[in-house]
Amino acid sequence: MQIILVTGGVGFIGSNFIFKVRKKRWANIINLDKLTYASNPQTLEELQHDPGYHFVHGDIGNIELLRNLLEQYQPNAIINFAAETHVDRSILSPQDFIQTNILGTFQLLEASRAYWEKLSPQKREQFRFLHVSTDEVYGSLSPAEPAFREHTPYAPNSPYAASKAGSDHLVRAYFHTYGLPTLTTNCSNNYGPRQFPEKLIPLMILNALNGKPLPIYGDGQNVRDWLYVVDHCEAIYQVLQHSRIGETYNIGGNNEQTNLTVVEKICTILDELAPKPNFRHSSLMTFVKDRPGHDRRYAIDCSKIKSDLGWEPKENFDSGLLKTIQWYLSNLSWVEQVQSGTYQTWIKQNYGDRKAKRVAQ
Ligand code: NAD
Ligand code: DAU
Repeated sequence: MQIILVTGGVGFIGSNFIFKVRKKRWANIINLDKLTYASNPQTLEELQHDPGYHFVHGDIGNIELLRNLLEQYQPNAIINFAAETHVDRSILSPQDFIQTNILGTFQLLEASRAYWEKLSPQKREQFRFLHVSTDEVYGSLSPAEPAFREHTPYAPNSPYAASKAGSDHLVRAYFHTYGLPTLTTNCSNNYGPRQFPEKLIPLMILNALNGKPLPIYGDGQNVRDWLYVVDHCEAIYQVLQHSRIGETYNIGGNNEQTNLTVVEKICTILDELAPKPNFRHSSLMTFVKDRPGHDRRYAIDCSKIKSDLGWEPKENFDSGLLKTIQWYLSNLSWVEQVQSGTYQTWIKQNYGDRKAKRVAQ
């Protein structure tokens, strides 16, 4: 069976990917994760007795560790999910983003190149390095502009997006200069089970459940293209298995929504699933100070992955959002674990000076 070294697999997308791969018995997994604030050890607990899954605690920036891991496990592929991922954190404190997203990816590429160059010709032919990236590298669209294509020029606007753009360029250079068989995917906003509640959808679900304000940045008219995480995981696996080397693929949900609509939908579902006797959840919606440099609109044209590999999103937004909310309602112990001390510090830091400008309605 194939052996895949996954990095950052305790996080949101990586953990969903690992569950999918192990459920389908597509491959054995080595999961290298630093266990930052964004990961909850409880996330992959149910795989602890699975002989096809092995967890290693460590940093993608640690080249010695990487060399030893590659030597020991001899993977056929590496999928790099590991990253600092929250835009607001990158604005308040960009250092870790440069460290992990650029320098960490560089070390991972270096270790992979050294490993790949020593493989037998047959194994070298089969090896793949898949880098998971974001649509934010393309910058912001106006309402009428066409969606991002793979050849859209890079124009990152936040430290997070710039660090991901830097890592994408390194991956590209390792393909062109050294022939390392790389693949890059640029995906839109994911949602689904196990997303850390600093991101829009889980933050709003949990605040609403707790009767706390729902902080909408600016006018709430920023647009994101939402993709259910399981669809993203399937796309990554398709690219890994079937893409030509050196390719990049845009992945999206064909599902542009304003933030205001997303929050309203969450409130409507919660009114059904967890009704409050005295008020509707939408009464918690609050407009607050905007994110600096807030990108107005993202939209992905994913026609290339559809025509080359036959992938397209399956989940529709209403059913995906319902499943997501049901997951959070059924996994409150997971939620309690992630909302511990450091999470509270973050909430104070990010929302402390975003005084309510206007309560919605
Ligand atoms: P996440 O923040 O939920 O998880 C990131 C994981 O990486 C965590 O488990 C963390 O402990 C680990 N990590 C961080 N630094 C590390 C390091 N130096 N070494 C090893 N592990 C480290 O992130 P996510 O939302 O699952 O995103 C995964 C990848 O997908 C990222 O590269 C992100 O840029 C990309 N992406 C995310 C989205 C989205 O909407 N969430 C969309 C497009 C692309
Ligand atoms: O587009 C892909 C990217 O999507 C990924 O690369 C990032 O890792 C991921 O975090 C996400 O970035 P966004 O900045 O789009 O996601 P976030 O959930 O932080 O915010 C989504 C939108 O909601 C954005 O327009 C800002 C807004 N927002 C967010 C928060 C946390 C609010 O209005 N209020 C909030 O409290």
